[in-house]
Amino acid sequence: MGSLEFAAAMSHAPGIAAFTQAAPAAQRQAFLDAAATLKTAASGARLDAMVVIAPDHFSNFFMGNMPACCVSLNERYSGPVEDWLGVPRMDVPGAPGLADLIMRHAYGRGIEPAGAAQTELEHSVIVPLSLVTPAFDVPVVWVMMNCQVPPLMSLPRCHELGRAIRAAIDASGLRVGVLGSGGLSHAPGAAEADRLDEAFDREFLSMLDRGDLDAILSIPAARLDEAGFGAWEVRLWVAAMGAAHDRHPRTLAYEPIEAWDTGCAVAIFDGAGR
Ligand SMILES: [Fe+2]
Repeated sequence: MGSLEFAAAMSHAPGIAAFTQAAPAAQRQAFLDAAATLKTAASGARLDAMVVIAPDHFSNFFMGNMPACCVSLNERYSGPVEDWLGVPRMDVPGAPGLADLIMRHAYGRGIEPAGAAQTELEHSVIVPLSLVTPAFDVPVVWVMMNCQVPPLMSLPRCHELGRAIRAAIDASGLRVGVLGSGGLSHAPGAAEADRLDEAFDREFLSMLDRGDLDAILSIPAARLDEAGFGAWEVRLWVAAMGAAHDRHPRTLAYEPIEAWDTGCAVAIFDGAGR
């Protein structure tokens, strides 16, 4: 048997690492304090591996070849690919055995991810890990979910993928963490990039804290569009909810940080490891 020893979700805006000081001090500190809470929890969990559920921003997958989701089977990763991120490029260990198990459990539940063994890590994985496991010494399985190029997986399917990840973890014999990385409202590169949808973000986190899965799975696609196309990344949060379906989500911080172009949130799932 394996066990889910840590579960969390957080935003991954590049500015968190690349231009940290641009954020107002109070907002920056609230976000970083919450991330530090995740770091303490992850450290105490003595993890054998961390499953990071995160999108790809055209670092590995492009318009002409975009899987709905993809499990990285890497022995090792290199990253970040962005030389401007403020994090030095390094090697990060992979966990191919667990990755293979995730593939098999997903197939068993009717979801067929792509598999790739030569992916490189970008800010979607590196930024959260730089705060949660900053030594980058915990082996990583990157589960990529397409949040960039429609059509995208439905929210219920994202949740089911999370359930498959959890089934693999439970069968793995390992102590495993899950980290969902994405969102909330933002529209990077768009004219409205600095207009965050705080109302959407707060409503989403309210539904999360209430554990109202039905409400989250019923969010209309048009409402996600309104919140900015970056809000499509709530799929990563929904997948993390699937993996931690028997745990209790709790928002640790939310700050609409215009300097980082993103509604920035941190949540932990209480009860992991018990
Ligand atoms: Fe993103």
